[in-house]
Amino acid sequence: MTPLRSGGSVPGVVEADDLGTYVVKFTASAQGRKALVAEVIVGELARALGLRFPELVLVHFDPAIADSEPHQEVRELHSASAGLNLGMDYLPGARDFTPEVAQHFPVDSLEAGRIVWLDALTVNVDRTVHSSNLMVWPTLGVAPPRLWLIDHGAALVFHHRWDGSDPAKRYDFRHHALGHSAPDVRAADAELAPKITRELLHGIVAEVPDAWLTDFATPDEAREAYVGYLHARVRASEAWLPTDFPTREELAAEEALRAAKNQRGRPAWLKQVPDLHGKPAAEQDWSVHLG
Ligand SMILES: Nc1ncnc2c1ncn2[C@@H]1O[C@H](COP(=O)(O)OP(=O)(O)OP(=O)(O)O)[C@@H](O)[C@H]1O
Ligand SMILES: [Mg+2]
Repeated sequence: MTPLRSGGSVPGVVEADDLGTYVVKFTASAQGRKALVAEVIVGELARALGLRFPELVLVHFDPAIADSEPHQEVRELHSASAGLNLGMDYLPGARDFTPEVAQHFPVDSLEAGRIVWLDALTVNVDRTVHSSNLMVWPTLGVAPPRLWLIDHGAALVFHHRWDGSDPAKRYDFRHHALGHSAPDVRAADAELAPKITRELLHGIVAEVPDAWLTDFATPDEAREAYVGYLHARVRASEAWLPTDFPTREELAAEEALRAAKNQRGRPAWLKQVPDLHGKPAAEQDWSVHLG
């Protein structure tokens, strides 16, 4: 139906022959197949833990659709993505959980804790104040709006370098989109860690198509590597539980300092760049970023 240019991987809103509408992520995107593997594993983990995450489907994409696509880049992406791709149920009318939306949509500590916990377990570095990958849905007043998780393509950072991956590694989650909702990660750890069994993980990695698992001699070896890593990481939660979230003011001060430093280092002609990757420069409007 239309390419979603707001997404870095240019997913497409696609109507499939089951009459469902899906946000399809393409195998030929620059993010590659590993992003799709991460989508499946982390999304299904989220669902198994009781978090809201739209249904995923495998989509056989017909590249003939590319013929009527006017933009060359998108056309090339579609032509190169024949075969199996990943679709996520489209949430009609959903709104991105931006800092402005967050001001009017309080998230309770336990829910925030569960989401931060999942992100820390799966090393998802793309759920920040600048790019929350959270949506609020429904929005038409038919039912109370709730928080939905989307886009886990940047999670499982460890699968980009299997040999250097320590399951107890800490990551910097201080810019997490829910860092200001007093996330109760300890309660989440006590509740969720026991649920992540080897059986659960095996069931989830079995959902990933063989064709996307190419890091090891066989797809099943790759599946074992994911299970082994995530199982070891969940047991090491004491080492990585993110607990020190800065206040909005601390975060703003820290980023203002960094922005000022960047600004000083720029040549004169670069000092007035208003737009970074389509997003407003952080130093220009803190009220928007941190509410
Ligand atoms: N299931 C969905 N229902 C409705 N809108 C969606 C859905 N999935 C994604 N979107 C919209 O499309 C945007 C881009 O999607 P997504 O973040 O998954 O793509 P991406 O290419 O991985 O993006 P990026 O890497 O830039 O974050 C989202 O911010 C959201 O506005
Ligand atoms: Mg995204």
